[in-house]
Amino acid sequence: EYRSVVTGIGGYLPERILTNEDLSKMVDTDDAWITERTGIKSRHIAADGELTSDLGTKAAIKAMEDAGVTADDIDLIICATATPDKTFPATASIIQRKLGVTNGAAFDVQAVCSGFVFAMATADNYLARGQFKRALVIGAETFSRIIDWSDRGTCVLFGDGGGAIVLERQTKEEANGSGVLGAHLRTDGRYVDLLHVDGGPSSTQTVGHLRMIGNQVFKHAVNKISESVRTVVDEADLELSDIDWLVPHQANQRILSAVARNLGVEENRIVSTVANHGNTSAASVPLALSELHKSGMLKKGELVLIEAIGGGLSWGAALFRL
Ligand code: ACO
Repeated sequence: EYRSVVTGIGGYLPERILTNEDLSKMVDTDDAWITERTGIKSRHIAADGELTSDLGTKAAIKAMEDAGVTADDIDLIICATATPDKTFPATASIIQRKLGVTNGAAFDVQAVCSGFVFAMATADNYLARGQFKRALVIGAETFSRIIDWSDRGTCVLFGDGGGAIVLERQTKEEANGSGVLGAHLRTDGRYVDLLHVDGGPSSTQTVGHLRMIGNQVFKHAVNKISESVRTVVDEADLELSDIDWLVPHQANQRILSAVARNLGVEENRIVSTVANHGNTSAASVPLALSELHKSGMLKKGELVLIEAIGGGLSWGAALFRL
């Protein structure tokens, strides 16, 4: 019997920062509106020519350094992204080349903002079956490339970035209580139109732009996330009060706070990076995790819950002990 243990965490943000002030010169908006409705103050934007695979690779290198492993030790790369460098090959393949990894397999997972939760659950299943030994699970996005920069309803919300973890197969004895303890994944395709990109290879042969009915997405978010969190905690025979850190998808401070209230998790146990990162889609959970890790507050043996909701609609939660 195997456990998938998180042994390394890393994040990367592009240098350029776009503030609410900057945005107010581009569209009819202001800092007060954005701050009050979302909690976002600034976001990072990838430089010209800086690709999703670059952000993912930089985050992966940090996670590998943190785990003390090299390219030869990695045999699985799963990249969660909705903004791949190209239609194909998978961004994970490009990251594999950039890292110099030549073993095992690499592929992408597409569940938009829930992508990292889905990718981590996928990697956990492969490792638990003994099929791979050490995975890089990456969330990397350049949403700035699919934003309609004239749409004030969406352009203020998103940012670019990458985050990664190293997930290692260990025997139950080696893991000694650490590892992924469960995941709950859901999709309801009836809501595909609430949040989508209006282009693609098969439909328009264009890249398209992000379109969202924000207030309707908001209505689904709190209940659906809470349901996933309760399920994953129940199935692991734990209580919500056992959670040391809640690391949510960083879409909106109001959603974060409402979920916390709904679940009764104290605010000081919730990691919030939305003010400085904006919504980085699949990168947001590993980026928030890497901020927590960098702060030195995350301790070995602590129980971490990650959750997300995004296009699809897809949503889910996963639980691991560090
Ligand atoms: N600046 C000023 N006014 C704005 C802006 C802006 N940037 N954007 C919209 N408005 C206006 C609208 O035009 C509207 O004006 P009207 O009343 O004259 O028509 C008014 O503000 C209210 O618009 P709503 O969309 O109803 O505002 P709401 O309170 O719902 O806030 C927001 C909008 C922040 C998008 C909110 O709905 C939200 O956060 N939804 C969740 C979306 C989300 O998090 N999606 C991501 C999750 S999934 C993923 O990560 C891919």
